[in-house]
Amino acid sequence: METMRQFAYVVLLLFSLTQNVFCRPEQDTDRDSETSSGNFYIGVGIGDITGPAADVNMMGYADPSQVSGGIHLKQYSRAYIIADINNSDNRVLFISADNCMGSQIVKLEVLNRLKKLYGNTYTERNLCLSGTHTHSGPGGFQQYVLFDITSLGFVYQNFEAIVEGIVKSVKLAHNNLKVGNILINEGELLDSNINRSPTAYANNPAKEKQKYKYNVDKTMLLLKLLDSDGKDMGMINWFAVHCTSMNNTNKLISSDNKGYASYLFEQKMNDGVRPGQGSFVAAFAQSNEGDVSPNTRGPHCQDTGLPCDVPTSTCNGKSHLCVASGPGRNMMESTEIIGRQQYDKALALYDSAEIQLNGSVSFIQQFVNMSDYTVYFENQTKVKTCKPSMGFSFAAGTTDGPGAFNFTQGSTEGSFFWDAVRDLIHKPSEELVECQKPKPILLPTGEIKKPYDWHPDIVDTQIFKIGNLAIVAVPGEFTTMSGRRLRDAVKSTLIANSWPEDTQVVIAGLSNVYTHYIATFEEYQIQRYEGASTIYGPHTLEAYIQQYKILAEALAKGKSVEPGPSPPFLLNEQISLLPPVIFDRAPWGSKFGDVTIDVRPKYTVNSTVMVSFVTANPRNSPNLEEPFLSIDLKGEDGKWRQVYNDADWCTRFKWDRTHLLRGESQASIYWEIPATVEPGVYRIKHFGYSKHITGSINHFIGTSSMFEVTK
Ligand SMILES: *[C@@H]1O[C@H](CO)[C@@H](O)[C@H](O)[C@H]1NC(C)=O
Ligand SMILES: *[C@@H]1O[C@H](CO)[C@@H](O)[C@H](O)[C@H]1NC(C)=O
Ligand SMILES: *[C@@H]1O[C@H](CO)[C@@H](O)[C@H](O)[C@H]1NC(C)=O
Ligand SMILES: *[C@@H]1O[C@H](CO)[C@@H](O)[C@H](O)[C@H]1NC(C)=O
Ligand SMILES: *[C@@H]1O[C@H](CO)[C@@H](O)[C@H](O)[C@H]1NC(C)=O
Ligand SMILES: *[C@@H]1O[C@H](CO)[C@@H](O)[C@H](O)[C@H]1NC(C)=O
Ligand SMILES: *[C@@H]1O[C@H](CO)[C@@H](O)[C@H](O)[C@H]1NC(C)=O
Repeated sequence: METMRQFAYVVLLLFSLTQNVFCRPEQDTDRDSETSSGNFYIGVGIGDITGPAADVNMMGYADPSQVSGGIHLKQYSRAYIIADINNSDNRVLFISADNCMGSQIVKLEVLNRLKKLYGNTYTERNLCLSGTHTHSGPGGFQQYVLFDITSLGFVYQNFEAIVEGIVKSVKLAHNNLKVGNILINEGELLDSNINRSPTAYANNPAKEKQKYKYNVDKTMLLLKLLDSDGKDMGMINWFAVHCTSMNNTNKLISSDNKGYASYLFEQKMNDGVRPGQGSFVAAFAQSNEGDVSPNTRGPHCQDTGLPCDVPTSTCNGKSHLCVASGPGRNMMESTEIIGRQQYDKALALYDSAEIQLNGSVSFIQQFVNMSDYTVYFENQTKVKTCKPSMGFSFAAGTTDGPGAFNFTQGSTEGSFFWDAVRDLIHKPSEELVECQKPKPILLPTGEIKKPYDWHPDIVDTQIFKIGNLAIVAVPGEFTTMSGRRLRDAVKSTLIANSWPEDTQVVIAGLSNVYTHYIATFEEYQIQRYEGASTIYGPHTLEAYIQQYKILAEALAKGKSVEPGPSPPFLLNEQISLLPPVIFDRAPWGSKFGDVTIDVRPKYTVNSTVMVSFVTANPRNSPNLEEPFLSIDLKGEDGKWRQVYNDADWCTRFKWDRTHLLRGESQASIYWEIPATVEPGVYRIKHFGYSKHITGSINHFIGTSSMFEVTK
């Protein structure tokens, strides 16, 4: 989450809100273990979770003007089941979803639906839902008020798309569980990430910083999943970088740099199969990317081109002009470069992976009340976490997506004006002000419960064991140094409890429930965006380190822990203010699917084809799997064959409302013809659904003229 672009707008909405306006596995998998050789049971699956391609505010930048209006890349859920070879009941389910973050209400609802299918095989304890952190996916899928403000509340259509797509990916993984092997590899990926809060990082102890060559992590850790015949099944890797290559002016749904990397990997391994349909599943999962930007050219002032003021990330005192970009000339090119670099590295690590993971599979999970966690130091003193609060610098946003008004990063003092505005919403208690220091409180979210909770108290803490790999699932965005401290703490605890010296620990970021950032105590003092968004106060990281050490020790000793307090399930409380589609209409003298701007008769590769259609609101589409566009090639037999659709990188589906009151809209389809396409005769089709004023939904198809593509 980056910004509070239009705070006034938000205040208004907040004000109205406070006023109450608004088993067992079915397969007997143990049987085949005698005939095949392998160290684990492995299942992989993929499901489409693309949300409404119109009208829904994108989750991440919290910019009310960034509303979905088309598709560049589709969003997917990628599910991996890894089970113990001697007891397939000991299994973990890791899901990497192309969402801004994991969501508690999504996880709980996915579990409700999985329970009907598989009993108690999957529970909150062995399911981890990790978001890739794309900032170009529709929002409104979180159960706490603050997260859904810019999306005008909860968006059921998006929630349903995400939950169903995830369940589908799990079903596939569950049904293709087979004996296999896992190889592990790691390597350094350079030139793909930078630290966006270097002055906060610099406040960490000198001795600690000396241990590291870079101020961000460069390691990619990768798992190669094979069946017992050595056939490729899937890949997961973790690399820390924000999915903010697409900036807050983008309105096309996109899975950003990691989604593009997954697309490239899956297209390579699933030869000739349409995206999202192949059996090989490749996840580029998120890690401790809290202060890590993909915009490698760094921040510059948009008016002068000069570097920004570093401690505050401002130009002439203003945050909104200080924007990071690169390495490409525009955001598409930057997404392509950062995505391709992750893909190239992953492919090299995949091809050269040799070390086999061996050992058992297990997991441990506990809910904790992070608003009320006591940290015990070795010198017998203790400190506590605080109820959630956002600091002033949260509203300044980041250089990946700056905020509005006069908020700047690095604020350790409030202001008379904004304090007064805040007090209209809720005045923080003295206790909270004291606890959160030196953070000046902009929003005392932990103290606002109207119309329902604004922020979570109860969060998941969780570790998966796969052989000597520990996957540490964390409920938020750990900064680089926070992640390093947590990994070290977990690793030394595991080794002290009889895990081998070559134990590997990886952080799975943005997992299960979202709690913003986790900066170190020292970074917190600086109150850059990440510190201002460390919601449980200055000792948040120490609390997590203590908690994960407790989990690691219990995991290593094979002991269980108490489940902890249950999180609320607030589906029935949700308020949704997004108006439905009322009706669609084609302009006089035309009908849905009519071509308004046709293709040219001839194109050469590398040029872009464009065609426009009379269309209807994409939110009417009842079937997520059906594409909005198809690029068809005419075969020698005269039959048309789809070669690309809206999930492909080379296509763009753009939706524009042309007349709100008359319910008129236009679809523009772009195809950048790849140099590799077969020359021949092509056409472009558009599929849509229109809503009649009576509520009935009708399918329509539009078709461009034929055109020739030559080299
Ligand atoms: C977003 O990227 C585009 C280029 O693709 C650029 O023109 C624009 O200034 C950027 N805007 C922000 C706020 O970063
Ligand atoms: C894992 O087990 C295989 C045999 O199944 C063995 O060849 C390999 O060396 C083991 N790997 C490690 C890291 O111990
Ligand atoms: C599975 O059982 C076999 C035979 O008892 C044993 O040798 C092997 O170490 C076990 N593997 C795991 C991962 O527990
Ligand atoms: C979590 O802790 C806060 C702060 O002490 C408290 O107000 C809240 O009731 C607790 N929540 C639960 C579910 O225990
Ligand atoms: C105890 O240890 C903590 C953490 O190292 C430190 O912040 C604190 O100042 C220490 N307190 C005393 C009284 O030494
Ligand atoms: C920010 O703007 C408000 C309202 O215009 C003003 O009262 C306040 O002093 C400003 N704060 C800073 C730090 O400039
Ligand atoms: C198309 O672009 C590729 C990559 O930039 C280039 O190698 C190729 O020569 C171009 N082909 C044509 C016909 O322009």
